[in-house]
Amino acid sequence: MLAVDGSGVLAGGDEETAELVRTAEDAGRAGAVQVLPRPLRTPARLLLAGVGAGDEAGWRAAGAAVARAASGDEPLDVLLPDAIAPAAVRGLAEGLWLGGYRFREAPKPPRSAAVTLTTKDATAYAESLETARVTAAATWLARDLTNTPSAVKNPAWFAAQVEAEAATRPGLQVTVRGPERLAAEGFGGILAVGGASATPPRLVELSWNPPHAARHVVLVGKGITFDTGGISIKTVDGMRLMKKDMAGAAAIIAATLAAADLNLGVRITALAPLAENAVDGSAFRPGDVITQWDGATTESTNSDAEGRLVLADALGYAVAELNPDVVIDLATLTGANSVALGKRTAALYSQNDDLARELAAAGEAAGELIWRLPLPDDYVEYLDSEIADRHSSPTQGAGSVVAALFLREFLGDRTDRWAHLDMSAPSWADQDDADLTKGATGWGVRTLLRWLALHRG
Ligand code: BES
Ligand code: MN
Ligand code: ZN
Repeated sequence: MLAVDGSGVLAGGDEETAELVRTAEDAGRAGAVQVLPRPLRTPARLLLAGVGAGDEAGWRAAGAAVARAASGDEPLDVLLPDAIAPAAVRGLAEGLWLGGYRFREAPKPPRSAAVTLTTKDATAYAESLETARVTAAATWLARDLTNTPSAVKNPAWFAAQVEAEAATRPGLQVTVRGPERLAAEGFGGILAVGGASATPPRLVELSWNPPHAARHVVLVGKGITFDTGGISIKTVDGMRLMKKDMAGAAAIIAATLAAADLNLGVRITALAPLAENAVDGSAFRPGDVITQWDGATTESTNSDAEGRLVLADALGYAVAELNPDVVIDLATLTGANSVALGKRTAALYSQNDDLARELAAAGEAAGELIWRLPLPDDYVEYLDSEIADRHSSPTQGAGSVVAALFLREFLGDRTDRWAHLDMSAPSWADQDDADLTKGATGWGVRTLLRWLALHRG
């Protein structure tokens, strides 16, 4: 592969290919790839990849496009231009890995072709490549977990995956709470939502606690291993993709494992409340009142609003027991996310402007789209209930906003240190596009790792 920038200048390669690039239309557009056959010569094909402005995003687009254009499992040699920025190499490598992802159960191993990068100065790029490798591997893990069918990935299975992944890395601790312990400790939301499933709920607590860490970040991820809607059952179309309803949990777990791989100097506790929202005679009912972990009661009139019930337990527990400096939750929480922002963009909620700006910037750098939405006090009354402390599923509009307001109720004295990302929409891609592959996207892993790296000291 050879890179071409926006002005069509060839970075590396000989005069003959330079001429081809000059005459090729559209050659420098980020993600545009031209295949030049070279009969009877080695290599047999040249891929000319446009890198746009030549920044990290341009190189990421080029990497992803090349991963897709490289035929099958043929090894790929990438000739890097001299003096390319380390960030550009990171972008290229992430693009190559992410664009080349295949779900592990797909019939054809290996999962991607071998890629060789050729450069005059390999040491200059060692760190960028390592960061890219860990980031991409974590995103692959999140995609794998989310693409796994729900008959396989019940709560116990998911917890076992976390234990197995954590065991391969030093310095990580995992605690898994099963139904008895959840009951003894009062995790009423997780138990209510998981109560109708043949595969009972779990709460996974994964912690990375490096010496001298200045900050403790708690990451919470919605882990509904399948969402039928419960008694308030979904339609056929509404249920079709609901194996992805644990994408938030997958992302926070994968990011925490990756933080350990990168030896980031920030303490992290990842909480994944895992439950299957199923239907049978033991399902919780519309109108039931649930006692959450913090003792507050929730009236649930729509059992399809299950995510906020499991998150409420985890958030309440995090605030009271873990003394977090920052709490960030990721959740495939509402269909309203895509109504407001379309298929690619997560909704960000925070009343901490610095945290909101940092997360938005991290997303921007990582190539994941984030847009901040408000937490209007005027809507809080929608949560009023006549029989409980609050109501989980108001019928009034702005579904993603109201869900965020519900979650905020469980942040106690930490409402100013919290951010919520409703990533229902971008957790899934309907088709291959740039660094996204059809199916689970692993959304959030990249943003979280960028953000965590800011707080490593
Ligand atoms: N898991 C869904 C949200 C969802 C919908 C994610 C589509 C991804 C794609 C969530 O549990 C849900 O059902 N939310 C309801 C809330 C409502 C009942 C208040 C929704 O968005 O309709
Ligand atoms: Mn639901
Ligand atoms: Zn759900």
